[in-house]
Amino acid sequence: MSSNLQLNPEGKLKHFLTIEGLDKNLLIEILDLAESFVGITDHRINKVPLLRGKSIVNLFFENSTRTRSTFELAAKRLSADVLSMSIATSSTSKGESLLDTIRNLEAMYVDMFVVRHGISGAAHFIAQHAAPHISVINAGDGQHAHPTQAMLDMFTIRQVKKEFSNLRVAIVGDILHSRVARSNIQALNTLGVAEVRVIAPKTLLPAQVETMGVTVSHNLAEGLKDIDVIIMLRLQKERMSSALLPSENEYFKCFGLTEDRLKIAKPDAIVMHPGPINRGVEIDSKVADGPQSVILRQVSNGIAIRMAIMAMAMQKQGAA
Ligand code: CP
Repeated sequence: MSSNLQLNPEGKLKHFLTIEGLDKNLLIEILDLAESFVGITDHRINKVPLLRGKSIVNLFFENSTRTRSTFELAAKRLSADVLSMSIATSSTSKGESLLDTIRNLEAMYVDMFVVRHGISGAAHFIAQHAAPHISVINAGDGQHAHPTQAMLDMFTIRQVKKEFSNLRVAIVGDILHSRVARSNIQALNTLGVAEVRVIAPKTLLPAQVETMGVTVSHNLAEGLKDIDVIIMLRLQKERMSSALLPSENEYFKCFGLTEDRLKIAKPDAIVMHPGPINRGVEIDSKVADGPQSVILRQVSNGIAIRMAIMAMAMQKQGAA
């Protein structure tokens, strides 16, 4: 999937669809701008007028708690007018095509679409067909990409670990169906970590996963050695077309992160999870709620990161 569509002729962000094809400087620019917004997201500073007069529509064709809420809060903290469309009650359910929905919203003088869709490539498709002044942000498309999640994960890692270059990061679980894993692997490699290690049963790894720039382990205890950051993933049963595992109990026995297994990683390792978490399936509650978990910090950071991405895309949109 081409990423050139994301940048205007000056190389500035216009759409944010995938991490693929974005360079390190641009990712750092997003992280730095998000840093400047942290005081606004935690209410120490009032909202900023950067997107006053702009209209943003959240188009969520798939369920979401964290992404949808933090995009909405981020837009409000930037002083934009924001409309969150409930697709279940929209005319899509009466057979209206995606493109017709877009055309009708464009007629309401919209400036940005934030799109979550179950089909890989949906946000890219909208970006290709939307009016030239409109920016499109991908809030998760099928198994393909979840680039704002990856950026809030990078932000959280940098907050705690300061530097990327010496880090060994493990991504554990259902890599095969995970848009978060794909975007995180791209972001971590672009930012220059020492190693991205994927830990999963063979049935939950894509073919030729090594070509994505990762090392592979099929054993959690072995795979966690020397690890600084552990990113746990949920089993995405909604995307599994056949039984890929014996049972959830069996999965937890082999790949669940428990307090004992966490001790195998570096003593100061952090535990991350994009949510929603399934306690007792991929992660034990004592770890999810424990002192090494930064799972709720990731959620908070989602507001600042989404503010940064929306502000950058909106400011550059006129030049494309
Ligand atoms: N991490 C994430 O995308 O969560 P939601 O599905 O709740 O938005």
